[in-house]
Amino acid sequence: MSHIQISTFTKINNSQSVFFLANKKSNWDGAGFDKRELAYIDKKIKADEKFITVNQFNRLVFIQLTEAFDKKSHWQQLEELRNTGNKIASAINAHKYDAIQLSSFVNTKNGELLAIAEGCALSNYQFLRYKSNKKEKNTLTNILLSHTYVKQEEANELQIITDAVYKARNLVNEPQSYLNAVTFAQEMKDLGKKSGFKAEVLNKKQIEALKMGGLLAVNMGSQTPPTFTIMEWKPKKARNKKPIVLVGKGVVYDTGGLSLKPTANSMDYMKCDMAGGATVAASMYAIAKANLNCHVIGLVPATDNRPGENAYAPGDVIKMYDGQTVEMLNSDAEGRMILADALSYAKKYKPELVLDFATLTGAAAAAIGPYGIVCMGTADEKQKDKLKDSGNKVYERLVEFPFFDEYAKLIKSDIADMKNIGGPIAGAITAGKFLEKFTDYAWMHFDIAGPSWNTAADSYRGKNGTGVGVRLLFDFIKNLAK
Ligand code: BES
Ligand code: ZN
Ligand code: ZN
Repeated sequence: MSHIQISTFTKINNSQSVFFLANKKSNWDGAGFDKRELAYIDKKIKADEKFITVNQFNRLVFIQLTEAFDKKSHWQQLEELRNTGNKIASAINAHKYDAIQLSSFVNTKNGELLAIAEGCALSNYQFLRYKSNKKEKNTLTNILLSHTYVKQEEANELQIITDAVYKARNLVNEPQSYLNAVTFAQEMKDLGKKSGFKAEVLNKKQIEALKMGGLLAVNMGSQTPPTFTIMEWKPKKARNKKPIVLVGKGVVYDTGGLSLKPTANSMDYMKCDMAGGATVAASMYAIAKANLNCHVIGLVPATDNRPGENAYAPGDVIKMYDGQTVEMLNSDAEGRMILADALSYAKKYKPELVLDFATLTGAAAAAIGPYGIVCMGTADEKQKDKLKDSGNKVYERLVEFPFFDEYAKLIKSDIADMKNIGGPIAGAITAGKFLEKFTDYAWMHFDIAGPSWNTAADSYRGKNGTGVGVRLLFDFIKNLAK
């Protein structure tokens, strides 16, 4: 699997490629440019170019001028710098170099070089497990940050975040021919071993004993048993008395079930339907690995959703884990069925806050596309603001949808406590309203159906599984742990 090493350096190595953050007035003494190169840079600056590449034949030298975005707010600048990191990684790989040093001619205090490194590192991800020709592998293996501007701990933390995002992407990119509910649970256990969080996997018998009717119903058409994975990170010096609970949708493949997905190609990427679960597991990995002082629990119910002889059928009434009944009218609205049981299960922890991540509705993806995360819920305004601040900072921007009581009327059933579909309007919100019925605590729901999967490369988020949510959760939990 691909890996990239992030570390610091004290003295520039002149045989390795290097990047400088600079401005128009920067004095290039000490950068090692000869006269012709200086003239070239001068010409580019006069032509108003902001990203300059000098090819020195044994290496590349990059310059990013801060004038390109000095009118933007700090968090927007960080995103521009991640995009610069993406450009650098592409060029380094195109030239088959293996390292890039990141340094600066301007004062950087607020994570500028780290943002470039982050964009560079995340861009370098590849999923090559099933490729025979390893020549396709990126050559970039080392990102070196100038110790003058970046502390060793900051580089270490970026290493952890990058590794966690890579792990989330790997899980999303794995097809269900490998990643079924059982192997997914095993992968989550392995992440626990690697980082130090505890993981327990409930098997089908245990899930039956608990009467998790939603998870069991979705699993009825399947050849593989469901799993329910419970992860826990409980550091001795935890700042919070009551835990934060993270819940992730773990549908390893969504055919829609008997309500088979109706349109051409709508199943092609449905191996991504466990992206919420991957986000939770990879975030637990990062939180534990970075030793954050916050008590966090992760819950991932997992199954595939397919038609089968015994598959649950539209019209069925399902008794859920908490005893409420659901008239199931569309087997393709399966995510809420399994999340509901996990959300009810979360009550036993008396949580401070519950956050669920799910590729829940096409409606969320249609509403805002891949450029943000649709969210809604009952968390208080302070908690919401903290989440939104983290969202801006890591550029996994949150878009809060209305959550009026009226939307709950749309899931009223004639014969059960509720039905599992709303109707033609507000599909993302009625899904959220369904989930709300299984909560009795401060809670926020994140519908990542849009941003969890890219069909074309989008800067450092790349193509295919993006690992969205990991950086958001890490930043949010890190702030709580301070
Ligand atoms: N997994 C899908 C949602 C989805 C769509 C994820 C596109 C990623 C990309 C979910 O289980 C689903 O099928 N939702 C239905 C709900 C409907 C039947 C009420 C949908 O959005 O169409
Ligand atoms: Zn579905
Ligand atoms: Zn689904």
